[in-house]
Amino acid sequence: MLQKPRGTRDFLPDEMEARRTIEWRLREVARRWGYREVCTPEFEDLELFTMRSGEGIIEEMYVFTDKGGRSLALRPEITASVIRMYINEAKVAPKPLRWCYFADCFRYERPQKGRYRQFWQFGVELIGADTALADAEVIMLAADMLNATGVSYELKVGHLSFMKNLLMDLEPPAQRKVMAHLDKKDYDGLEATLGAMDKSDLGNSLISLVQCRDLSEAFEIAGTIPGQERIQQTITLLDAAGINYSLNFGIARGLDYYTGMVFEAFAENLGAENQILGGGTYRLAHLFGGDDVASCGFAIGFDRVMVSLGETQHKQDVVIAITCTSEGRNHAMEVARTLRNAGIRAEMDLMERGLGAQLAHAAKSADFAIVIGQREAESRNVTLKNLHSGEQKTLDLPSAIAEVASHGAGR
Ligand code: HAM
Repeated sequence: MLQKPRGTRDFLPDEMEARRTIEWRLREVARRWGYREVCTPEFEDLELFTMRSGEGIIEEMYVFTDKGGRSLALRPEITASVIRMYINEAKVAPKPLRWCYFADCFRYERPQKGRYRQFWQFGVELIGADTALADAEVIMLAADMLNATGVSYELKVGHLSFMKNLLMDLEPPAQRKVMAHLDKKDYDGLEATLGAMDKSDLGNSLISLVQCRDLSEAFEIAGTIPGQERIQQTITLLDAAGINYSLNFGIARGLDYYTGMVFEAFAENLGAENQILGGGTYRLAHLFGGDDVASCGFAIGFDRVMVSLGETQHKQDVVIAITCTSEGRNHAMEVARTLRNAGIRAEMDLMERGLGAQLAHAAKSADFAIVIGQREAESRNVTLKNLHSGEQKTLDLPSAIAEVASHGAGR
């Protein structure tokens, strides 16, 4: 029997309904903040992703050559594509641009719970606003979106300048090595690496910075930071808005384009793969042949949010089975149409079964049955049976609609 590719998933209707419910909550928050949906291709020129991150990223992507000999990659994320599109299509549009997307990404990773090779991101990109208010808006939007899903999470906000200031004298590869130790809280490894570079004196400041949760203390540890005032302003705005976050100056972010503010959110009930959102301020446009433009954005790992929410969230549709005898069929078709026009989910029997078999099937698949035989066809009434309580009554159609609506049918 053929199976789906490793790291991918199939979604049955119950799961798709639950996913759509959460997706629409995210869309609704984006709409209220003025973020409009964009869509980019699932595959791009490989160069779009290697230009910033180097050839190393090829290992982590689905890369292929098409019949015309072009090197292409399935998108591992959507920010680079959005900025490419901005340069191609919208660079003269009035700023700022507020864009959002909900789309699948592909990463060649080792699959495990919450880590897939095809996964969905709900993301936003704010392009062309270079202020503390812009940074704060994006973080507030992130919190608003996560709150709308109902997930329990912790939001961590940091800024790359602090760490950069301390590591100023190191070459980029050495900086990366040091950051990797800090990211893993591997302080012995950090000490050994710094010792080998004759930089042991940095160890204490780095560890204090990573552990620091207070802005003024972080300024004291890292020295004078470029853009200090803007950082202070952003934090003041977040506090004024009542955002629940903690400061964390150890956030390094995996992708290579971030320039300043960075933030991540973690779900409380997931295992190792518990990061459900990541983002920050970045600059990419100049790399793709556009003018340099300040941008800020984030992406929510939609699948991880769904895993974290579990089974609890979804309200099922109320289902009405339309059952009939052959004499009642024409009236039944009309009743089904009227119910659907009223927004109610109505399903007719398609198997040419007898009424008894139709009702037996309805008991397994529906909440109510409407029974239409010759008597109902002649009187233009319907018999409505509540399949949970067994209660049955004959009603005119508007009363039957009102009855099922009072049980949540038609939403
Ligand atoms: P990222 O942190 O690489 O950032 O991904 C965002 C989120 O996608 C992660 O926090 C995680 O929840 C989810 N995610 C990543 N890899 C997987 C996977 N293999 N399976 C399931 N979920 C995954 C970005 O992609 C940036 N483009 C975010 C951004 C937008 N920055 C600025 N604008």
